[in-house]
Amino acid sequence: MSHYDWVVGNPPPLLKRHSEVKHALLRNYLVEYFLTLVSLPQQEKIRLTIVDGFCGGGLYVNEDGIEVPGSPLVILDAIKEAAVLVNVRQDRRKPIQIDLELICIDECSHALAFLRKTLDQLGYGADLAADRIRLVQGDFARHCGAAIQRAHDRSRVSGRALFVLDQYGYSAVPVVCLRDIFAKLKHAEVLLTFYIDSLLNYLSEKNLADFERSIGIRTSLSAQEIDEVKQSPSWRVHLQSSLYQDLTSQCSARFFTPFFIRPERGHGDFWLLHLSQHWKARDVMAGTHWRHHNHFAHYGRPGFHMFSTGYIGKFDDEGKLQMGFDFSEIAATVSKDTMMAQIPAMLFDGAKGMTFEQFFLQLINTTPATRAMVESTLLALNEGGDITILDETGGATRARVHLKPEHVLQLPSQRSFGF
Ligand SMILES: C[S@@+](CC[C@H](N)C(=O)[O-])C[C@H]1O[C@@H](n2cnc3c(N)ncnc32)[C@H](O)[C@@H]1O
Repeated sequence: MSHYDWVVGNPPPLLKRHSEVKHALLRNYLVEYFLTLVSLPQQEKIRLTIVDGFCGGGLYVNEDGIEVPGSPLVILDAIKEAAVLVNVRQDRRKPIQIDLELICIDECSHALAFLRKTLDQLGYGADLAADRIRLVQGDFARHCGAAIQRAHDRSRVSGRALFVLDQYGYSAVPVVCLRDIFAKLKHAEVLLTFYIDSLLNYLSEKNLADFERSIGIRTSLSAQEIDEVKQSPSWRVHLQSSLYQDLTSQCSARFFTPFFIRPERGHGDFWLLHLSQHWKARDVMAGTHWRHHNHFAHYGRPGFHMFSTGYIGKFDDEGKLQMGFDFSEIAATVSKDTMMAQIPAMLFDGAKGMTFEQFFLQLINTTPATRAMVESTLLALNEGGDITILDETGGATRARVHLKPEHVLQLPSQRSFGF
């Protein structure tokens, strides 16, 4: 772990390329997050609480020898950038006022000393003195409750907070912390790093119980099955898929997006899970992936049920490297085509059809598509006569661009049932 060592007086540690990708995602997401929160020009003020639970020392040198910011500075820069965008785009006479509190937690005192010095040098001394930036030394899991309470005190009504949980491995964020965050903060969002490859390498019949205890989940595989699964050529795919289901179903977030980052060399896939309680938050994250597709890969399938056959592993059964889903224009076309083929069959069951809202909420976690992409696919199917969309009067909709949540989706032959 020496590349994360920060010692005041020494040069900052090396940041590997895949971690730069992680920072790019964080920055892009925060800008989109802010723009979504401040969508109305009349809004004068915005209050945000961001918890960087594994904050590090705040500065690195990248593989090209250039100094680059660590996550606390990525967060501060992104908020500044987003504020400028809001002021320009909304042509504001008075700039938006930002009441940001950034809580930085790290168990390493050297990292925090380095961060304090870096922040001071960059002109954040007054924010540190006024506790707008708080540095907290210790284990994240121990400080999580206090961070939740602080976020709650600052946002009693909307319960808005963002937790950036960039752990080294997979066991420093117990699931009970995630449950507490979502139970106490109505609009909380979490960006969780999870080193799935190291967990897969580590898990065995003997240590499954230790792992379950350390993070507090129950896996759907028995200890004996773990060893059996590991004998099969595609074991990574099966275990990843199963652990993904276990984690997302037990952390009590309603919405999630499972994106992967794969280091260029060697092993070490990790997940960047975005967890939230609101579909809009999930949609903003999916939109970020589509807009900045050159950075991210996601190893699921297009269309719906992206993980029904498990994740695509690093290697297929013949040992060949597989391509990830890359959020490119081609991927968008493939996604639309796949959804076009899947949707009519998905509407087959209910005689009365279902509302757009029901359809969307039921499926959103299973697709890399955004709401707008699902909406335009439904409208294209409606225009082609493959499905029928009824408006609130029960007649065929004239909508060409947007659907209302209460619009009803049916197969054309189902029409007679409803009316
Ligand atoms: C991957 S680095 C984080 C880097 C930082 N988020 C960034 O992107 O610039 C992980 C950091 O977590 C800290 N850490 C490790 N275990 C921890 C724990 N249980 N609680 C809090 N911090 C921890 C380490 O000291 C290290 O600084």
